[in-house]
This record gives sequence, structure tokens and C-alpha cells, in this order.
Amino acid sequence: MFSYDYSFDSIDADSPTFSSQEKIFKNLGSDVLKAAFYGYNACVFAYGQTGSGKSYTMMGNKVDKGLIPRICEELFLEISSRSDSMSFQMEVSYLEIYNERVQDLLRKKLPCSEGGVLKVREHPTDGPYVENLSKHVVLSQSNVESLITLGNATRTIASTSMNDFSSRSHTIFTIIFTQGWFDGELPHERHSKIQLVDLAGSERADGTQAMGTRLKESANINKSLVTLSSVISALGKFSLINKLASSRAG
Ligand SMILES: Nc1ncnc2c1ncn2[C@@H]1O[C@H](COP(=O)(O)OP(=O)(O)OP(=O)(O)O)[C@@H](O)[C@H]1O
Ligand SMILES: [Mg+2]
Repeated sequence: MFSYDYSFDSIDADSPTFSSQEKIFKNLGSDVLKAAFYGYNACVFAYGQTGSGKSYTMMGNKVDKGLIPRICEELFLEISSRSDSMSFQMEVSYLEIYNERVQDLLRKKLPCSEGGVLKVREHPTDGPYVENLSKHVVLSQSNVESLITLGNATRTIASTSMNDFSSRSHTIFTIIFTQGWFDGELPHERHSKIQLVDLAGSERADGTQAMGTRLKESANINKSLVTLSSVISALGKFSLINKLASSRAG
């Protein structure tokens, strides 16, 4: 049994139940914005079978923008309405995990032997991070959109028999959002990290008729999705144990 918070219909744009990208942003993106202003980290990821519309929902295209550009746009709008009393900074980074290797999408792609593969490390207080991943300060929506265009052009996509523009890598678009203000003479800062993830889709080799490079990618995609589901299931058990422990303590 599964339960869903939302179910979106995107089959026929003329149908009264059709969910536009705007509606999806209103339902899913506005909580991310709220979290960012409160100083919480937030993460949204698109998970599902190949061709199901993950990249379309997260990124969209120039005329029908997805969640990522809409979240950035709304952040800038909100910032401009609050910037009398506070200062804000937005930095973005964009990476892909292709065949289990992490690569920066906002820097020229280098071969593995020349440092093109980045390492994931664990910081004692800040948690996991990607070493040497480039961060870019963005001052306007057009800055963000240029970086998105650059990253998307670098991302590995390929045609399969189930999707002409199939993502062959997982991507993480990160916004590091900093708010600064003065309480009397005292300066304060609040940071939050928004991670927007577009996973590569699960696929069956006979469905996509993958061979050679596509088959190797497909095996790595499925392997990492299985690992992700183990992580989610472990986190789910952990939160259930915590809930039980706190209800017993109560
Ligand atoms: N809501 C939508 N409205 C119009 N077209 C859509 C919508 N969702 C998906 N599509 C179209 O369906 C096709 C597959 O979508 P998309 O590439 O987003 O799938 P995906 O889940 O990212 O697949 P993969 O796992 O292979 O990357 C694309 O041509 C995309 O333009
Ligand atoms: Mg995709």
C-alpha cells in the first residue's frame, strides 16, 4: 500500500484536472522556499521509471519552466521584497553522478586522469560534501538561467528506445542561501541549503534494448537507485524507531 500527498495529471493540457508546471511549483516548491527563509535545509528529488517526466518536472524547458528555475525565480522575487532590512546571498552548484563518478557541470569537463572526477568527503560538522565542486554567486535570475543552460548542455543524456533525451546521470542542483541582518549592533547569519535532484530513471534492459555504453550506464543507474532505496528505507525505519521511542517516553 502506498499513500500519496498529491497525484498530478499531465496527460492532456485541455483537461480540467491538468497540472501545469506552475501548479506543481505551488504545491511542492513553496514549502522549499518557506524552509529556506526559516534557515532549514530542503531537498526535492524526482524518482521514477525512465521517460516518466522527472527532468521535465525538475527542469522543464525555456517556455515551460520546471521546479528548479521556478524556485530560483521566486527566491529572487522574495529577496527583492525583503532586502530593505536584510542582506541575501545565493550561490549555486550543479553536479552529475555518471557511472558512479561525480563531475562538475559548471566547469569544463576534464578527463578522469586530469581531475575530472570529484571526491565525496565528510566534514565533521557540516556532513558530506563534494571536494572542489565549483560554487557560483548569482545576482539575478538571468545569472541562474545561464548556469542552468551551461550545466544542462554538459549533462550526459542519450537516446534510448524509451526516451529520446534520457538522463544517463543523476544530477544535484544546490542553492546555498544566506541571510544576514543586524540585531542592534550584533550581526546574524542564517544559512540553508536547497538540493534539487533529478535522478536517472530506472530501466529494464529489455525495455530500453540497451547495449554497450547504454547497458553499462543502465546497470550503474539501477545499482545506485537500489542503494538509494536502501538508504530511504533505513531512514524510514530510523524515524519510526525515534517516533516509537518518543511516544514511549511521553
Ligand atoms: N508534464 C509534461 N508535459 C509535457 N511533456 C512532458 C511532460 N512530462 C514529460 N514530458 C515529455 O516526456 C518525455 C520524457 O520526459 P523526461 O525526459 O522528463 O523523462 P525522465 O523521467 O527524465 O526520463 P529519464 O529517466 O530517461 O531521464 C520528454 O519528451 C518530455 O518532454
Ligand atoms: Mg531525465
